[in-house]
Formats: sequence, C-alpha cells, structure tokens
Amino acid sequence: MSKSAQIIVLDAGGQYCHLIARRIRDLGVYTEIRRLDCDPDELKNTKGIVLSGGPQSVYESNAIMVNPKIFTCNVPILGICYGQQMIVYLLGGKVSQSRIREYGSADLFVQGEQNIFQGLRKKERVWMSHGDAVDILPEGFSIIGYTADCPIAAIANFSQKIYGLQFHPEVVHTVSGIRILRNFIFSICGCKQDWNPGENVKIIEEKIKEQTNGRNVFFLISGGVDSSVAFTLCTRALGRERVRGLYVDTGFMRKNETKIVEQAFKEVGVDNVDVVDAQSIFFAQLEHVIDPEEKRKIIGDLFINIQEKKLNEITTGNDDWVLGQGTIYPDTIESGGSKFSALIKTHHNRVTRIQEMIGEGKIIEPLSEYYKDEVRELGRSIRLPESIVGREPFPGPGLAVRCLCSIKHKSLEFTQHSQEIARKYKVQSWIVPIETVGVQGDGRSYARLMVVSGNVCWGTLNEISVEVTNSLPEINRVAYLVASKDFFPKFNVHPARLTKDRIQLLQEANDLVYQFVSEEQFKEIWQFPVILVPLGARNDGETVALRPVRSVDGMTAEFAQIERSTLKILGKKLLELDGVDSVIYDITHKPPGTIEWE
Ligand code: XMP
Repeated sequence: MSKSAQIIVLDAGGQYCHLIARRIRDLGVYTEIRRLDCDPDELKNTKGIVLSGGPQSVYESNAIMVNPKIFTCNVPILGICYGQQMIVYLLGGKVSQSRIREYGSADLFVQGEQNIFQGLRKKERVWMSHGDAVDILPEGFSIIGYTADCPIAAIANFSQKIYGLQFHPEVVHTVSGIRILRNFIFSICGCKQDWNPGENVKIIEEKIKEQTNGRNVFFLISGGVDSSVAFTLCTRALGRERVRGLYVDTGFMRKNETKIVEQAFKEVGVDNVDVVDAQSIFFAQLEHVIDPEEKRKIIGDLFINIQEKKLNEITTGNDDWVLGQGTIYPDTIESGGSKFSALIKTHHNRVTRIQEMIGEGKIIEPLSEYYKDEVRELGRSIRLPESIVGREPFPGPGLAVRCLCSIKHKSLEFTQHSQEIARKYKVQSWIVPIETVGVQGDGRSYARLMVVSGNVCWGTLNEISVEVTNSLPEINRVAYLVASKDFFPKFNVHPARLTKDRIQLLQEANDLVYQFVSEEQFKEIWQFPVILVPLGARNDGETVALRPVRSVDGMTAEFAQIERSTLKILGKKLLELDGVDSVIYDITHKPPGTIEWE
C-alpha cells in the first residue's frame, strides 16, 4: 500500500500482534505490521513503534530479538508482554521465569505519573498471559503498575518515551485497553487520524477482482457467518455467474443443521450452492483417530479432496477457477501463521495442502485480515439478514472436535497441590486424566482437566480456576460438577471413538441445551460449545461438558455465568439422556483454555 504507516507493530509471534494493529486502525490511524527483525532504518519515519508479545523467553539462547538500534531512532516505543521483556533485556535489566504464572484476568494497580495511563482508575481489570516477568528494571525506568503476582507489570522511561506493559491492552477483556492505546498513539506519538474503517467493503471487493484476475471462484461454505459474508462479497464483486458454492455435510454438524442452512440460503435467494453428503467418508476416516491435531488435519484434507472432485465434475479444466474460503484472521494466527508464532490448533482451512495452494495463488480468502466482530459488521453493511450475520460461531471441523476420544481406561487422580487448593476453598476436586488444548503465554498447551464440586458461588469458582491454572502447570482447564448419576469419585475415563452413536448423543445434548437456555440468557453468551467426554461411572457412560463463553472476537474469552437455578434444571435434563452419567461446566477463561476443547 502506498500510504505510509504512522504506527508500526513489530511481530514477535504473539497471538494478538495483528489485533494490536487492528485496534489502532480502528482508532483511525493507519498501522502496518513488520517482521521483528526488520531493518531499523525502515522505522525512522514512523511516529511510534509497538513490540508485540511472543511465545519465547528472552533469556533462551535462540530467542528472537529486535534490533537494539530501534532505541536510537528517537521514536516512542511501546512493548507488550514479550515486547516489554525485550526492552528490559536489551537495555540492561533482568527477566526470569515467574514463581506464579498469570493467565486471564488480573487486577492492575496503577501508580506514578498518569501519562500513558491518563484517565485510568487506580485499580484496573487487565488480561494476562505470561510465564516470565521483569525482575530488575534497566536504568531510567520506573514502575507504573503492578498486580498481586507481578510486582513489575507496567514500566516507563518518560524522558525517552519507552513504555512496557506485561498485560495486553489490545484484547477486549482489558477494560481500559483502548484508552491506553489511544494515550500512546495520540498523546505520546502525536498521530493524526488518517484511516477510515468504514471503507472496508470497497477495499475487499477491489482486492477480490484483482486477485481473481478473470478467474471464477468455487467457494466452500458452511452456512456460518464467515463463509456466507465472504461468498456474498465475491458474488457482489464478480457477479453470480462467476461464483459457485459447495456445502459439505460432514456428519459432524449440529442436529438438522443441513436443512436449516439450505432454508437460509433459499430465503436470501442464493441458488448457486451445491450440497454434498459426505458423512460416510468423514466417519470412515476419523473413527480411529484420537489426537485432536490429527482429526483437524484429516478433516481439512477431506474438505479439499471433495471440493476438487466436485470442481472436476462441473468444469473441464481447473485453470479458470480459484477456491474460495471464509478464513478469518484468528484461523491463521492459531494455526501458527505468522513468522514467529506458535501452532495452537490447525484450523480446517489451514492444512498443508491449502498453504501450498495459497503459495500457488489458487486460493482466495477475502476476510483473512478480519475478526469475527468485523465480519459481522461487514455482513450487516451488505445487508445480509441477522439470521445469518448473528449466527453463533461454529468451527469447520464441527462436533468432531467436541467429541473427545480415548484409547485407554484411566482412573481419576489426586495430587497434593490440587488437594491443598480444594481444602483452601472447601470444595472437592479430582484430576481427570484427559487432555484438552489451551493457549498459555502465546504457546499451545495440552494438559489435564480438574473437576471441582461443592456449594460455591461463581466468584469463588472464578478464583479457584485462576489459581489452579496459574499455579499448576499440569492443568489448563477447570470444570464445575453440575450433576451426576453416580458417586463422582468412582468415575473413569474409558476407551471411546468418534462413532455415529456418540455424535448423535452429542447432537441431542447440544439440541437440549439450545432449547432450554432462553433467548434472554443467550444474549450474554457469544458461543456455547457442548462437549462429550468419555468419562462415566459405567464403561460406556459419558459426561457432557458445557462451555458457554463471553467474547467479542474469539481471541480472548471469559466463562459465562448462567443462572444457577437454570443450570441445575439443565443438568437434570441432560442426565435423562440415555448414556449421560454426569454434567460439568467449564469455568476456564481464554487464556489459559481455548474456547473449543480440541
Ligand atoms: P479456540 O478454540 O481456538 O476458538 O479458542 C476460537 C474460535 O475459533 C473457532 N474455531 C474454528 N473455526 N475452523 C473454524 O472455522 C476451525 O478449525 C476452528 N477451530 C476453532 C472456535 O469455534 C471459536 O469460535
């Protein structure tokens, strides 16, 4: 782009690097992302530099580092998380592994001059994701914020205009995050507004025309928000005769989903979409797969195989076609898609085959730079109905990644640490020997689940969840026992596969939840995954896990707190389903847990 960026974000591989740039652009300031190791001469004409977070530790021998010459560019600098740690390390301070890690919510106490914290309260809720922390400050710096577990959580060298934050101002769960970024870019860097986010539709449509360069688009669509918006934008840009859609019924959709989607397309007059029933192929390929990454890769490959086969049927040669996908930015970053970022989970639209096709220019993804909330806004601005734009997010691999599998029998476990926490909060607790995926310190974790039971309020459950995941590295997810048919300590994990019967049970459980939770209560919930876990008192007994979350963009989330009386009745109803032995409720934020369990 010819426009010159006022702010440059240097990418150290953090999950939220791209989100920083988005937030600043939303404030009306044109911002670009560059590689962390770019030449500092490229940065001289900017008004401010942001160093992003990243998955590494600065004291490791192979840690990636920004060129220290940036400190002599005379441009204000803001380091976030790993970015702050790089500033400290390169300017002569010390960073080490913290005694207590912090993931999710924390209270920041603001101290010293207002400056970058202008307008903040003395105590602010912030979102953390770190295992390392600053121990000793470099010369010229002072502490401007701390938390109970992180004595150096925000730093400043006021005369040189260098700032560091251990927490993430760019995520929505940091309540005054936007105010901090605004203070940095306008008051400290002196930026002027030069960017209008309202022009996105025009920019995307121009790009579609440019990228397709006369070719047609064959679109993989799921009926969800992202693919529907991307498909419609392509149709607007190229005309309906040049765009065709394919909906694949994998067998891992929610109950009656295919019919609902077909109806929704009909209602908005979309008639250029083919529907393929591929259930038997998906079940055959996945029945013996336990590992979530393997599941995800097989599903991504199957989507592409089916799409190519269908394309061959409707055309004579592939050259005039590109494949369209509704990929959004979180799909890319969680799949390890920037130079230094870690793989959290391979999204179905980011398997190796697709990456190769992207390199060959055979894929078009109009929304790959956007987040879910932006995609919804784009959808509204092109007048897609709320029934599509407001749909709850549903992952491409569907219920396959919500149906946990196991090859072995395993009993519940106890550890001294977990029992200490149980005593402290007067609850019972068990470690369930089943792993789920988490995102901690910008890296992937695959760790165990703790289940707690007792008569405790949401506030205490929140404290337990934060303390357990911050202090016990072997646990990245905590759930609360809502109801059980039998005495919970007698439960076992048992061998279970991805079968049609289990998926059907999960579809029923999911459907029951959706009928039961009122529209009023759903307003507070961004996404409500229901998960099946092979954990029961009998050898084939199952546990249903409820995972309602509040979020805006899916990048961070907090567990939702639904009414306890509703939850109690819902638990009882789910136990009435044949095969369900217990119901648990996920009380983990993101980070440390991802929204989906696999
Ligand atoms: P996580 O579980 O990573 O999910 O916190 C963040 C959001 O992404 C959705 N998700 C996916 N969407 N393909 C998709 O289209 C995928 O492979 C995939 N995996 C996760 C998830 O449902 C949530 O909204």
